[in-house]
Amino acid sequence: MADEKITAEQIRKLKGTSFPALTAYDFAMAKLVDECDVPLMLVGDSLGMVVLGYPDTTHVTVDEMVHHLRAVARAEPKAFLAADMPAGSYETDEQALLTAKRLVEAGAQAVKAEGGREIIGRLNCIRAAGFEFIGHLGMLPQRVREEGGYRVKGKVERERQDLIADAKALEEAGAIGMVLELVKPDVAREVTSAVTVPTIGIGAGSGCDGQILVTTDLLGTSPDYIPKHVKIRPDLTSRMKEIIHQWKGSLGDA
Ligand code: KIV
Repeated sequence: MADEKITAEQIRKLKGTSFPALTAYDFAMAKLVDECDVPLMLVGDSLGMVVLGYPDTTHVTVDEMVHHLRAVARAEPKAFLAADMPAGSYETDEQALLTAKRLVEAGAQAVKAEGGREIIGRLNCIRAAGFEFIGHLGMLPQRVREEGGYRVKGKVERERQDLIADAKALEEAGAIGMVLELVKPDVAREVTSAVTVPTIGIGAGSGCDGQILVTTDLLGTSPDYIPKHVKIRPDLTSRMKEIIHQWKGSLGDA
C-alpha cells in the first residue's frame, strides 16, 4: 500500500478488487490495523456493542463517536478513515450536516449513514457542504429494534428491487461506496453489478467489491457473541487470559 494517505478517489477505484476494510475504536487498534495495510478503516457505531457495552448500536451518541474517532485519528492512519453517524443524529438536513461536520472535524474523511432513498435529501446536504459519505444498505443495525432482530435482506422480490434502487440512488447522490450488510449473496452480487462504486459486504457473500468486519469479531475478542459470517475463529481471548493468569502466578516470584 502507498505511504500517502488514501483518498476518496482511491477508494472509488477499488471497485472489483476484493479489498479489505476493518473497524477501529482506539489509538492502539488503529495502529495495528493500519500496519496491516488495510485501505479503509471505519470507526463504526459497533463501538457501542463491542467497546461500550450497549445491547445494540442505537445507544451510541455523537459525543462518543467523536471521542473514539479522535483517538483513532491520533494514530494518523494511512487508511481512508470513515466514521458512522450514530442513530438519531441525522434525522433532519440541519442535524445531518452538523453531525457530519463534527465527525469530519474529529478526523473522518467520510461519514457513513444507514438507509437508502429515504435519506438522500440529507446526504445531498452533506455532499453540498463538501463532505464525502459511504452508504449502508441491507440489515440496518440502527433499526434493529423496529426490525425485531438481525435478518438477512433480499430474500423477497420487493427487498431485492428496493436494494438495487437504493444502491443506485446512493451512487447518484455521490456515495464513494456502500456497505451491504446481511444481504442474500446473489442479490449482493446483483447490487454490486448495478453500481460503479464499490460495495463493501459484511455477511453478504463474496460477490461484493470489498469485505468489512468488526475487528474484534475477526480477532475473537468481541465480548458476547461473534456473528456467523466471521469464518476465522482464533482463540485470542483464552490466550490473553492465560497471560493474565501467568502474570498473577508470577507475583511474589522475584
Ligand atoms: O458499525 C460498524 O462497525 C459497521 C460495520 C460493521 C459495517 O457499520
